[in-house]
Amino acid sequence: MSDFDSVDFFTDQSLIPDPNPYFDHLRSKCPVVREPHHGVMAVTGHDEAMTVFRDTENFSSCISVGGPFPDLPFTPVGDDISALIAEHRDKMPLHEHMVTMDPPQHQRARGLLNKLLTPRRLKENEEFMWKLADVQLDEFIERGSTEFLTDYAKPFSLLVIADLLGVPEEDHEAFRIQLGVPRPGARPGATDGDTLVGNPLEWLDEKFSTYIEERRRDPRDDVLTKLAQAKYADGTTPEVIDVVRSATFVFAAGQETTVKLLSAGLRFIAEDQELQQRLRNDRSLLNNFIEETLRLEGPVKAGFRLAVKDTTLGEVDIPAGTTVMIAAGAVNRDPTHFENPHEFDLDRSNLREHMAFGRGIHSCPGGPLARIEGVVSFERILDRMADIKISESAHGPADDRKFSFEPTYILRGLTELHLEFTPITENAEKDAS
Ligand code: HEM
Repeated sequence: MSDFDSVDFFTDQSLIPDPNPYFDHLRSKCPVVREPHHGVMAVTGHDEAMTVFRDTENFSSCISVGGPFPDLPFTPVGDDISALIAEHRDKMPLHEHMVTMDPPQHQRARGLLNKLLTPRRLKENEEFMWKLADVQLDEFIERGSTEFLTDYAKPFSLLVIADLLGVPEEDHEAFRIQLGVPRPGARPGATDGDTLVGNPLEWLDEKFSTYIEERRRDPRDDVLTKLAQAKYADGTTPEVIDVVRSATFVFAAGQETTVKLLSAGLRFIAEDQELQQRLRNDRSLLNNFIEETLRLEGPVKAGFRLAVKDTTLGEVDIPAGTTVMIAAGAVNRDPTHFENPHEFDLDRSNLREHMAFGRGIHSCPGGPLARIEGVVSFERILDRMADIKISESAHGPADDRKFSFEPTYILRGLTELHLEFTPITENAEKDAS
């Protein structure tokens, strides 16, 4: 028995800095294997993960975010628990958000969100991003050093979502405070704690209810009015609260994840000077760079499904009521799918085949947006910061780095990223061109 057999993935902090050896261990036993502590069926194989994502008949999303925690509000019995799920769904966490819904409810909620994510809105949102990237960089560029999450990634990803949803600019500061995003330059981990109240999702629900109600009463020429007037595919008008939930969940799903993508990417850039130079010389490589970052350091480490009916996966029996974990971090390093899976390779032919954004009906609707956030940010960072390096005083020397990661079994991301760099002044940039 290896040490990994006694490790509890869901609680053991020793797996947080690097879960990959543990994932490799699980996969070496079988791409579908039951972990012993919570009876969760762990999926580490690419093909098997694809099957689960696509099979909504046999696998419900009702536990998609938390997995084995909290316990189900019922005891699964029999070979088909669909009636039990239906009966108890409203007692399950996040049941009001699309990520935990199954067809046909999911389709209705997702359809509403799709009305917002139009190509035109995304284009306008991208224009906002280009300006915002420079505003955030201006906050710290002259210092020649940064804690990147506080100074850039957190405020940037929050304000991009606020703009996407049409939150008026005069309210942006209130959103920053209520969602616990520190002021640029603040001590890492600090928030405006004295003004942060209760549950941020509840605060968002209230704020968006007011916006939507106001605009249904008194339409304006703005994005929130479009959201307020959106209808379901069958022409019916959604309840205010259903529109609100489509909007507020976007903050929950799209902010922290993007922070993690940006910081993981910049860590690769700062660690590998050759890679940094290659990206400086050829910006068209940024798209591949973002895909490889998502594959190797995807912000969502694990997602979950509940087996609705007795079924099989690969050749493994999955009884109804089993919690299935799709370990995206492992799936994206499956050696039967990705050659030299632990290596960062900008030239790999199948680098978009990772599952960092999931697959199937729940696949991330924010994927295109997150990718653009990455391109815009890394473009402007490379334009304005030369010689980007990891700060040795914060993270130790190259052969003994110390990074800390969010202590969760669901997400993967740095808590801090301290960098040093040489500012590139606009004049120097013009002279060089
Ligand atoms: C790098 C950044 C991101 C990553 C890695 C990511 C990852 C994911 C994953 C894996 C899922 C699927 C969950 C499941 O199947 O159970 C998902 C769903 C979702 N994501 Fe993202 N996401 C990111 C950014 C965003 C952004 C920027 C938005 C905002 C538009 C967003 C909005 C959503 C929504 C609304 C869902 C639920 C979709 C559904 O249930 O149909 N995400 N995301």
